[in-house]
Amino acid sequence: MQVSSLQQLIAERILREGPISFADYMRMALYEPGYGYYVTGEAKMGWEGDYFTSTDVADLFAHCMGRQVKKMWEQLGQPARLGVLEQGAGRGDLAQQLQQWATTYEPALMAALDYRQTDIKTGQDALVTVDDDTFTPAIILSNELVDAFPVYVVEKQGDTLYEVAVTIANGRLAETLVEMDSNTLIDYLESFKVPWHTFPDGWRAEINLDALVWMERTCQILAGPNLQRKRHGFILAIDYGDVAGKLYSIERRHGTLSSYYKHQLTDRPLVRPGEQDITAHVNFTALIQVGRQQGLRLHSLTTQGQWLRDNGIDDELDQIRQRDFGAIDTDRASNQGQTALLQWYNLRQRVSALTDPMGMGNFKVLIMKR
Ligand SMILES: C[S@@+](CC[C@H](N)C(=O)[O-])C[C@H]1O[C@@H](n2cnc3c(N)ncnc32)[C@H](O)[C@@H]1O
Repeated sequence: MQVSSLQQLIAERILREGPISFADYMRMALYEPGYGYYVTGEAKMGWEGDYFTSTDVADLFAHCMGRQVKKMWEQLGQPARLGVLEQGAGRGDLAQQLQQWATTYEPALMAALDYRQTDIKTGQDALVTVDDDTFTPAIILSNELVDAFPVYVVEKQGDTLYEVAVTIANGRLAETLVEMDSNTLIDYLESFKVPWHTFPDGWRAEINLDALVWMERTCQILAGPNLQRKRHGFILAIDYGDVAGKLYSIERRHGTLSSYYKHQLTDRPLVRPGEQDITAHVNFTALIQVGRQQGLRLHSLTTQGQWLRDNGIDDELDQIRQRDFGAIDTDRASNQGQTALLQWYNLRQRVSALTDPMGMGNFKVLIMKR
């Protein structure tokens, strides 16, 4: 077996400390400075990378986000300056496509918009945000950020909930079950009334403690430094995931951990550390709970498919049909008309991918406000 430097680093740590938690493994695989999947050079997202996200599928996703931002701006009373912070922005496609849309269709919004992006890759970790008093976002957005945070993995056997740890067996990284040295993970599940005792042996689940930290920090950024005069605004987070009752259920007995390598979904997160993405579905009930503790209210939790429809995806399609595909009606038999028809089908197909309840349409969109 060829051993990468990161594998070596992980193995050395295990030899030093004994088995490490899956969360520690995932943190090294994704974020180890100089080696981790998200902090090293090459293209990870997009058609040449390991997976694609909604902005790769069609600009219309960003247009709908633009419409959503406009609604929020209006609800805030159309302030002259609207700070928008996008966390985990990756390549910046959402920012670019949204601002391009606003420039053409919503110049007044564009004039107010101060849109900033951050990403761990450029040194801004959303979990250790340093307050920037000069920038006051009223909207904080993220798309597929929280599912990338390291998770603990637990497995039920008999009456016991064990933690899945990472060790070395036969010269390779391997899973092992260990007893927990604190009640944190059990307390987490019990706080959502997960009846794990009643589940069959082998039942597994992931627990994302960083998501709680992130939500708390994000609420605090939104509120601003003056505790007497907390600012108004919105947090919008899109991700794979569900409410706790559905996520931690018998139907999901294998958990939701997935790895992506060159567009292939794999269930082997321990191979190729640093070279493949690892994600787990987000517990939206946990985010809502933290948001409420921080004084926010739930505005909506819906699916991406529904959210896109609520934010005008059909209207966007109609406009494009009229603007760019007139040849389909006027000149259908010509080469130009045929090409237009095929391009139109292609666009329709892409919109279906974004809204498909069995695919990206089943992402959840959480909006909280204060
Ligand atoms: C799945 S990608 C999504 C990228 C982009 N939002 C999109 O939709 O194409 C996850 C992004 O989150 C970033 N990220 C992961 N953990 C982060 C953290 N703790 N703070 C800031 N960014 C993070 C990664 O570098 C990556 O760009």
